[in-house]
Amino acid sequence: MTTIIEPFRIKSVEPIRMTTREEREAALDKAGFNLFKVPARDVLIDLLTDSGTGAMSSEQWAGMMRGDESYAGARSFERFEAVLQEITGFAHILPTHQGRASERLLFEVIGGPGLVVPNNAHFDTTRANAEHSGCEAVDLPIAEAKDPSSRHPFKGNMNVPALEARIGKVGVERIPAVMITITNNRGGGQPVSLGNMRAVREVCDRHGLRLVLDACRFAENAWFIKLREPGQAHRTIPEIVREVFDLADGVTISAKKDGMVNIGGVLLLRDETLFQKASELLILTEGYVTYGGLAGRDLEAMAQGFQEVLDEDYLRYRVGQVAQLGAWLEEEGVPIVRPVGGHAVFIDGRLFFPDIPEDEFPAQAVCVELYKEGGVRAVEIGSNLIGRNPDTGENIRPAMDLCRLTIPRRVYSSEHLEHVVDAAKTVLDGQHSRSRGLAFLKEAQGIRHFASTFREL
Ligand SMILES: Cc1ncc(COP(=O)(O)O)c(C=O)c1O
Repeated sequence: MTTIIEPFRIKSVEPIRMTTREEREAALDKAGFNLFKVPARDVLIDLLTDSGTGAMSSEQWAGMMRGDESYAGARSFERFEAVLQEITGFAHILPTHQGRASERLLFEVIGGPGLVVPNNAHFDTTRANAEHSGCEAVDLPIAEAKDPSSRHPFKGNMNVPALEARIGKVGVERIPAVMITITNNRGGGQPVSLGNMRAVREVCDRHGLRLVLDACRFAENAWFIKLREPGQAHRTIPEIVREVFDLADGVTISAKKDGMVNIGGVLLLRDETLFQKASELLILTEGYVTYGGLAGRDLEAMAQGFQEVLDEDYLRYRVGQVAQLGAWLEEEGVPIVRPVGGHAVFIDGRLFFPDIPEDEFPAQAVCVELYKEGGVRAVEIGSNLIGRNPDTGENIRPAMDLCRLTIPRRVYSSEHLEHVVDAAKTVLDGQHSRSRGLAFLKEAQGIRHFASTFREL
């Protein structure tokens, strides 16, 4: 049987609104051709992010009703803590309101000016928090990560010789931790192999360095290990997940991904002293250590979500659905980045609109056309996002100019995704009517893609 089916029935539905092309063109015009500024009510299929956009299960909703809202020592915290201890083997667990809060605490306790943090690829907020503490955030992906045509099965891997070289160059005393992001979001949800993580651990052990995981998509990563890594197929997902966590001294998690909740995060630390410091900081801004900026009911939903995500039927469907979308797009001739990662499919903007010059944002134009055609909201991860070189003022040319279709968990059916493929194919068929791209109406400072507005050329 090759059909990928949803391993759940639908118990509650949320209507989505069909709009006309005229309505969508008007919405785009009003939003300055920035999809972040289009109201969600005008979006048919929302593929902006997989973060906090998933559907919760009936057991999670039941847990929400059981939520114990006691300020200290709530039953919901006990359940949350026990589940995370069982899955990760960590004794010290702090709840936070989302991933970046965990990152902020981590870097307040280990970061500081003059320090250097190597990572396979820092996610934006991880980089921002490391830099805010004064650290230099260094990305060390393998060379294949930057090659859209490479079919490497673990494109998220860290470049281990480059890590060794960097440690030699800056010195161990300036490295508060080595980080690995699983899966590598910046690289398209590309997985990191167990072999690579073991090799990084070995380097850390030899130099007496901490290893910290950014483990937002730890279960999707474990599924790829089971599928693709020699010698791993017979192991269960909890076994693989546990081995991965056992390699780490600390972990930050945004539970809005594999925690299967709409809000929540986790910080895990093995070191008692660091844990005490982080606990004090948590109380300062997030809340008491047994709720960390969340309600008791959120802790229940997380405890349940972290268990459900380990189910193989779920992971087969989840990763399979994303791969299916990629395969359908490819069949229609839509240029995508291969292999498809765990949570998103990336359309190559430069190949999709070869006639649009780089400074006119081809990938942003793909996002705009997908919305016009099918009410599909995607996000540009390319020239617009990356911004300008602060020294020269020139637009930076990223290795790839991409339109990301990010799939929320347990939300859209195969038919919804067929609609996305239809929209992309229709735009592609008419691509030569579009040989000019977009120009800034207002260029935002910092992360440009949230606030900049455009006009069509
Ligand atoms: C790899 C990675 N790390 C950290 C974060 C930050 O998590 P949050 O948005 O919950 O703050 C994200 C969110 O997208 C992510 O993908």
